[in-house]
Amino acid sequence: MQKLWQSAYANILACPLVKTGSSWLPVCTRAELQAGRFIEFTMPRTEAELAKHPDTLPLTGFVFLDGATPRAYLNRCPHMGVELNWKPGRFMDSDNLFLQCSTHGALFKPKDGECIAGPCQGDALTALDLQESGGVLEVRLPE
Ligand code: FES
Repeated sequence: MQKLWQSAYANILACPLVKTGSSWLPVCTRAELQAGRFIEFTMPRTEAELAKHPDTLPLTGFVFLDGATPRAYLNRCPHMGVELNWKPGRFMDSDNLFLQCSTHGALFKPKDGECIAGPCQGDALTALDLQESGGVLEVRLPE
């Protein structure tokens, strides 16, 4: 099973344009999602999106375990729209309690992405719907 998934995932990473019509993106196996591990992914872009916004970078996201619950967010700070992390897989504050934006230090609750401190206090990260299919976690692509 894992080999199959790795093959499908590698194909998605290698191909920035996905024409499958599927609105769900496989991001990792459930077994890979260990406590404290953040798995980052890049959203595929449609030809229409590329034609409309050719100079914009693709959206990225991340998935992690909040206790025993998998959660996924767009990797985009509501303050200035930049990615939260400055190192791969590093999203938590020094106390390991909140997600933290590395640019201006905003803190977000892992459970719902609400910003509880910083320049975007009261705003929130964009949560992504998650589903598990055959041991693979998938996120719903934003429309
Ligand atoms: S860009 Fe994230 S807190 Fe300013």
